[in-house]
Amino acid sequence: MSDPTETNADQSEPNAADAAHPVGAPFAPKETVLLIDEKGREYLRSLRQGRRFDFSGGYLDADDLVGRPDGTEARTSTGARILVFRPTYSRLIPNLPRQAQVIYPKDTGSFLIYGDIYPGARVVETGVGPGALTLALLRAIGPNGTLVSIERREDHIAMAQETVAKFHGDAPNWRTVLAEAADGLAEEQADRVILDLPEPVPALAAAAQALRPGGVLCSWVPTTNQLGELGSGLRAEKRFAAWQTFELMQRFWHVAERSVRPDHRMVAHTGFLTTAWRLADV
Ligand SMILES: C[S@@+](CC[C@H](N)C(=O)[O-])C[C@H]1O[C@@H](n2cnc3c(N)ncnc32)[C@H](O)[C@@H]1O
Repeated sequence: MSDPTETNADQSEPNAADAAHPVGAPFAPKETVLLIDEKGREYLRSLRQGRRFDFSGGYLDADDLVGRPDGTEARTSTGARILVFRPTYSRLIPNLPRQAQVIYPKDTGSFLIYGDIYPGARVVETGVGPGALTLALLRAIGPNGTLVSIERREDHIAMAQETVAKFHGDAPNWRTVLAEAADGLAEEQADRVILDLPEPVPALAAAAQALRPGGVLCSWVPTTNQLGELGSGLRAEKRFAAWQTFELMQRFWHVAERSVRPDHRMVAHTGFLTTAWRLADV
């Protein structure tokens, strides 16, 4: 696509179709959709009135997509095929413009299952960034759960709020707190605590304080140095036990008629997820 003035998503507009999954609804004006060209390249774009999307093979008008169904096969002015979808979570996150590192979808899956995030859970996360994990947590806890998101940077809170408003919709069960992790955590009574912080160790005591007995801590760190420090921190904080650490590697495959093989490139490393249980007080 050749419009150099466009970022990969227009964060200034609410997703008009809002609350993530308007099943069966046609594309609405201003909605954000994913365009996929014949080479499999993906573009997150807002269907703003009058907007024209330029491709090497012709152009497509946003107005012509409004009112069409999810999964539309559109044609550019020169007949090139463009697929148009409401983005699923795993296709949305890599296409979001970002000012901070996000948890990749493959790792989000690990958080949800190994962190045992369930409908109705009271979850506290710290290190909110652009809110990629926040979106998945809100989805997993459902309307009966609660999520508190603690973040030290006001601009990151604003970014996460925009992400949630645009791709999740109203979230009356979500609260953001502008604070240092350790300060914000202490008062919460949580089933699950998630630390996505470069330095999780100073927050461990507060996380233990915040968790109910039997609650689960998840901590995400990208490097082995940080992981070693986290291990020392967990050994010193006697309220945590039975921790596990792993990393997850994901290799995409190229499946074509005459060539079935792994993709040439992969994201070889993202980070390490550690889960730990909160012991009951003695
Ligand atoms: C990698 S980003 C989080 C990404 C986010 N989990 C996502 O998936 O979109 C880490 C965030 O932690 C915040 N942060 C770092 N140290 C912190 C601390 N001690 N207390 C609160 N927030 C902190 C940073 O400002 C940044 O927004």
